[in-house]
Amino acid sequence: MKKPLVIVTRRLPDQVEARLKDQFDARLNAADVPMDAATMKAAVATAEVLVPTVTDKVGADIIAAAGPQLKLIANFGVGYNHIDAKAAAARGIAVTNTPGVLTDASADIGMTLILALTRRAVEGMKLLEAGGFTGWCPTWMMGPGLRGRPLGIIGMGRIGEAMARRSKAFGMVIHYHNRKRVAAEIERELEATYWPDLDAMLPEMDIVSINTPSTPETRHLFSAERLARMKKTSYLINTARGDIIDEAALAAALENGALAGAGLDVYEHEPKVHPKLIGRRDVVLLPHLGSSTYEARHGMGAKVIANIEAFVAGTALPDRVN
Ligand code: DGY
Repeated sequence: MKKPLVIVTRRLPDQVEARLKDQFDARLNAADVPMDAATMKAAVATAEVLVPTVTDKVGADIIAAAGPQLKLIANFGVGYNHIDAKAAAARGIAVTNTPGVLTDASADIGMTLILALTRRAVEGMKLLEAGGFTGWCPTWMMGPGLRGRPLGIIGMGRIGEAMARRSKAFGMVIHYHNRKRVAAEIERELEATYWPDLDAMLPEMDIVSINTPSTPETRHLFSAERLARMKKTSYLINTARGDIIDEAALAAALENGALAGAGLDVYEHEPKVHPKLIGRRDVVLLPHLGSSTYEARHGMGAKVIANIEAFVAGTALPDRVN
């Protein structure tokens, strides 16, 4: 049987690439140079399967350039807001993602940001490296402990729930806002309080963690007005997608002392970061590391391959989103 032409837009972990080459007619991107629009259009003109990542913009213009042989966009990642899945569906192109395999990694990075921010770990390290550590001091670099603090999770899907479990183990009190209330047994286990009204929840929280996908509805969910509802002593964590926060409004809120700090792994205009967020004592910035464990990245590759295998076999795609 003829192997399908699979074009992969970025370098993937070695084991994943080896399997892709073995099983399919895979064109890999050894140089790992992100594809520009012209290269992407040329790719979809010939590929039967495209494997993009969050760094690719697969908009309606790219979908329009696809040849009739393109039948599957198997995204290497769970978030797929960079793909126009509706335009793809209209052309009969399935879109799949990689849910479940990066839940732990993403929740771990959320906890990393909470701990680094509240315990001033990055600030302390920078100070030490600059020669500022002259000995232990009883009144120095204090921050809030986590036990008993209300944590508001925005988006109680897989990753939100994993954040809740970890945070509960640290003694935090779980609150959440979600389109739908989660099952009663999960609420009971997490001792979680559901807030249908985000604006009512925000003023009560000490830490807010964004774990919801980027959609037209969640774009700038954290506008200047919403940020103003948060406590002056509270922290905002975002490991989901950058455009959920109005980054300029966040920078202004921090500047005005309207928040105690922010921990970000994702950015509105990634890889650009709002210049006023850089170099601040009250901000921890990571370069989109949420899924960067060996386990998660290998799991993402395995999911991509499982979806292509199903496509080849003509069976239902395990992770179709459109
Ligand atoms: C995801 O899977 O959505 C991660 O953010 C990397 O793309």
